[in-house]
Amino acid sequence: MARVSRVVLFAVVAVLVACAAGAEEGSAATFYSENPIRQVVTDGLRELETSVLQAIGNTRHALSFARFAHRYAKRYETVEEIKLRFDIFRENLRIIKSHNNKGLSYTLAVNEFADMTWEEFRKHRLGAAQNCSATTKGNLKLTNVVVPETKDWRTTGIVSPVKDQGHCGSCWTFSTTGALEAAYAQAFGKGISLSEQQLVDCAGAFNNFGCNGGLPSQAFQYIKCNGGLDTEEAYPYTGVDGLCKYSSQNVGVHVLDSVNITLGAEDELKYAVGTVRPVSVAFEVVKGFRFYEGGVYTSNTCGNAPMDVNHAVLAVGYGVENGIPYWLIKNSWGAEWGVDGYFKMEMGKNMCGVATCASFPIVA
Ligand SMILES: *[C@@H]1O[C@H](CO)[C@@H](O)[C@H](O)[C@H]1NC(C)=O
Ligand SMILES: *[C@@H]1O[C@H](CO)[C@@H](O)[C@H](O)[C@H]1NC(C)=O
Repeated sequence: MARVSRVVLFAVVAVLVACAAGAEEGSAATFYSENPIRQVVTDGLRELETSVLQAIGNTRHALSFARFAHRYAKRYETVEEIKLRFDIFRENLRIIKSHNNKGLSYTLAVNEFADMTWEEFRKHRLGAAQNCSATTKGNLKLTNVVVPETKDWRTTGIVSPVKDQGHCGSCWTFSTTGALEAAYAQAFGKGISLSEQQLVDCAGAFNNFGCNGGLPSQAFQYIKCNGGLDTEEAYPYTGVDGLCKYSSQNVGVHVLDSVNITLGAEDELKYAVGTVRPVSVAFEVVKGFRFYEGGVYTSNTCGNAPMDVNHAVLAVGYGVENGIPYWLIKNSWGAEWGVDGYFKMEMGKNMCGVATCASFPIVA
């Protein structure tokens, strides 16, 4: 690209950084307000506005885009890239607003994914669709234990902090470590952080594909047969496929066995989450979901082919909100995403295939 536009770009970036304080003043509520440009702004922000308008030549959502880029520390390499990302941002903003105008049980908001197309998002964050048919026959033994009406394992302190998978379709490894970390804390009364990267690098023989997807049930099988899973500290996350560097010296947890929930049996899943511990679940992410802000997620476009789940997460509880029963689920897109990294998904309809591919480990 030409030297001239590079100069323009650096001016934009410099102003973005310089305006940190001004941009931070916007609260979450006003951050994406309808007419941010009309807000009283500092000189710095006005300067920023001018620079961004120079690059993207459109006044309507330019400032909210500039603030977005600053807040999520976006680095665009060229003016063309700024223009492209701004166009995508505007389209996503339109989708978000039009959804929120419908007044449904959940809301959407701009987040770090707002400058990505759905295709880009799918490529970077979701695994390939996985075949869950191995769980058609579950092995959970139901007893007469009374299943509580609501549950939130976070209140017991066994649920580990939310992690961020980054640009790798490794959700299944985070679902696996989340389940194991909770099982470990429950069994031994202390916290642990376990290695996702070992699963990315080493669990291929169990029908897993590193950054291109896998299943927690298959990861539990791998760990059981392998002899253990290393700690996060010993085998840290890189978010790219690599060679296996497992060391039996650094094992943090052993898996004795795992329990599969019968395909689609939400009552079994509720029994497990309510009376045993958090359970790894998988579901189908469709377009709008990545912008989830709060409320009970529901969709009539996901889960139509219930074998096609593309995202694994961790069910840590359930409850009822405004009359709608929901699963409380821990995601792996960072603690800034959704509600402190969590979301609620409608319960009782096998929504998005949430009970298609569920399992939990027994640790030692
Ligand atoms: C899924 O796996 C089962 C059992 O391994 C197999 O019979 C079935 O054909 C697979 N389905 C797909 C779509 O790959
Ligand atoms: C659970 O499902 C996995 C595959 O998803 C399978 O390998 C494993 O044998 C199943 N476990 C039991 C106890 O049936």
